[in-house]
Amino acid sequence: MPMIDPALPVPEHIAVIMDGNGRWAKSRGKARNEGHREGAKSVEAIIESCGAIGVKYLTLYAFSSENWKRPRSEVDGLMGLLTHFLKLKTSSLIENNVRLKVIGAVEMLPESSLSQLNKTIEATAENDGLTLYVALSYGSREEIVKAVRTLMQKSADGEITPDELTVENFGDYLYTADCPDPDLLIRTSGEFRISNFLLWQISYSEIYITDVYWPDFRRSHLEEAIADYQRRHRRYGGL
Ligand code: FPP
Repeated sequence: MPMIDPALPVPEHIAVIMDGNGRWAKSRGKARNEGHREGAKSVEAIIESCGAIGVKYLTLYAFSSENWKRPRSEVDGLMGLLTHFLKLKTSSLIENNVRLKVIGAVEMLPESSLSQLNKTIEATAENDGLTLYVALSYGSREEIVKAVRTLMQKSADGEITPDELTVENFGDYLYTADCPDPDLLIRTSGEFRISNFLLWQISYSEIYITDVYWPDFRRSHLEEAIADYQRRHRRYGGL
């Protein structure tokens, strides 16, 4: 197995499209929600591993704006799982110096999930190790349109002129304003799609796709992705 090279930098920010929970369950004759439950164990393992490896930001695509279209039982299962996970794991997030943040249209979440989310965000706000962004009810096009609406309003109110908007400051209007762009984007379960995830932010990210289903994705797979990242030559369009 390729190893992380301690002489080379690790990605500062890793973003993950956690895909394949349903297929993992199906291949074992289990219900889809069992795949999500096993996926939550991978979430825990990857958070811990990122902290140990020295990654500063981890963004996990946990629920997309399109996922609301799934059957009610699956949506409820995912929301329940999220709430349960946060309730159970807040103390270990604190112990591991992890700061939780959220991106997405969180106002769409059920009250119980939202209030637990806010509790964990507050309880971990002073931590300065890994910053964990969970993308919930997240869609990148929605995020961009929301940013443009804010800017149009500011312009109408005379607070900004069109030429004051730049490639550098547009990001200040996105959910990820406080976060550097991802260096590495990982997608599990072998699909070659971005699925409306961080479209603006991944302009220069390295993309790593593995066939491994998310519930099977653990530290060794993460290290393999980081080792692959370290072998690539990053030029940002230059020579
Ligand atoms: C994609 O698999 C995964 C999701 C839609 C949900 C991700 C959620 C978790 C891993 C668990 C809870 C998260 C946290 C942060 C505790 P899929 O269902 O689309 O799989 P398929 O493509 O094989 O059907």
